[in-house]
Amino acid sequence: MKVLVLNGPNLGRLGTREPDVYGSTTHDDLVTLVGDTGRDLGLDVQVRQTDHEGELVGWLHEAADLGAAVVLNAGAWTHYSIAVRDAAAQLTGPLVELHISNVHRRESFRHHSVLSDIATAVMAGFGVDGYRLALEWLARRPS
Ligand code: DQA
Repeated sequence: MKVLVLNGPNLGRLGTREPDVYGSTTHDDLVTLVGDTGRDLGLDVQVRQTDHEGELVGWLHEAADLGAAVVLNAGAWTHYSIAVRDAAAQLTGPLVELHISNVHRRESFRHHSVLSDIATAVMAGFGVDGYRLALEWLARRPS
């Protein structure tokens, strides 16, 4: 199974960004963690991060055309980007909406997601370990 792990704005700054909220794992560490997990599970996984909304939209189009599964941490775009939602709505493979932090314990503007009602599954609050859990779930899921 092909899986794209797509991270949105500010997630490239993991490790230095609000470590009390997001932990000390860097985005490079995350790429290694996801790569190792994908190999163990026999998944074809790629991790990408962007601070540019149009780039994420393009990657979602690519995933839609490939029929790939997507693990999407859209960061702040989760809460307001109809463009990201419209691109994600075109996916034919499973979509896991993921948040490192438990957004429901945070500011009220983080409680609403424009993605959750089109996602196959939603994860929040597992820290960066959530990425590993999402891949394990995708690998076990009947296609
Ligand atoms: C986040 C939560 C969002 O509210 C925030 O804007 C992020 C990261 C998370 O992983 O917990 O950038 O998606």
